[in-house]
Amino acid sequence: MKWTPELNIVGSTYKVLPLWPEIGASAGPVSELPDKLHVDSPSRRFRYCVRLNPRGTAMHTWWGNQVGTVVFDSDVLIPALYQARPDAERTGDHWEPMPWMSITPAEIMTLRPGTRMAKGRVVIAGLGLGHQLIEVTKRLQVKRVTVVELDQELVDWIMPQIRPHCRKPVEVIVGDAYEVLPKLKADIALIDIFPGYGDGFKRVAELAKQCPGIKKLWGWGTSEMTGTAQR
Ligand SMILES: C[S@@+](CC[C@H](N)C(=O)[O-])C[C@H]1O[C@@H](n2cnc3c(N)ncnc32)[C@H](O)[C@@H]1O
Repeated sequence: MKWTPELNIVGSTYKVLPLWPEIGASAGPVSELPDKLHVDSPSRRFRYCVRLNPRGTAMHTWWGNQVGTVVFDSDVLIPALYQARPDAERTGDHWEPMPWMSITPAEIMTLRPGTRMAKGRVVIAGLGLGHQLIEVTKRLQVKRVTVVELDQELVDWIMPQIRPHCRKPVEVIVGDAYEVLPKLKADIALIDIFPGYGDGFKRVAELAKQCPGIKKLWGWGTSEMTGTAQR
């Protein structure tokens, strides 16, 4: 699907993978969800839930420096990961109100250019909800994947839900991608660890210099701005 500033999607065609299929969906505030509508990581640093995006509600999309909206013609379900607030204990307000990662059209479209480059031995830096990992392992050209993720709790908690959907061998290294990637050998590394969208160019170029064993590096928010070929 090509990015356009006003995207209308047939909701019944928007199928995303629920990592905990037993969890129901809700449009309510993330901090007020009853037990059956969320799963929390052991220390409650992460909360997984499924957002009910009501028909007609506008969501944001972007492509490079262009922004747009996307509207569905029916209710859709959007899996999302929330983080605990750093000041949760002091304020009593446990969860960040905005998701840390969610499977929106914008995420899918901006990760896809990297996914489409994956072949041979692939490194994925940044696990998140495992969306890109699962998509990469669907590719025939991919032989094996090494995931590099900073957060041990996230890996221990979410990886057992992700692994059954992976179609290629997946190894996980818990560590800082900036330290681990320079030691790895791979055909390509797909990097989604940056705090913001659109400043990846410099970071990827700098990291590439440190990673002689990785033939190519792609970073979230870079290829979208280099041209239309990868849309
Ligand atoms: C936006 S999420 C990645 C989402 C993922 N692309 C997906 O498809 O679900 C970013 C991830 O990068 C991880 N991360 C952040 N900084 C990192 C670093 N320096 N090294 C490794 N992982 C890091 C975070 O813990 C988080 O899991």
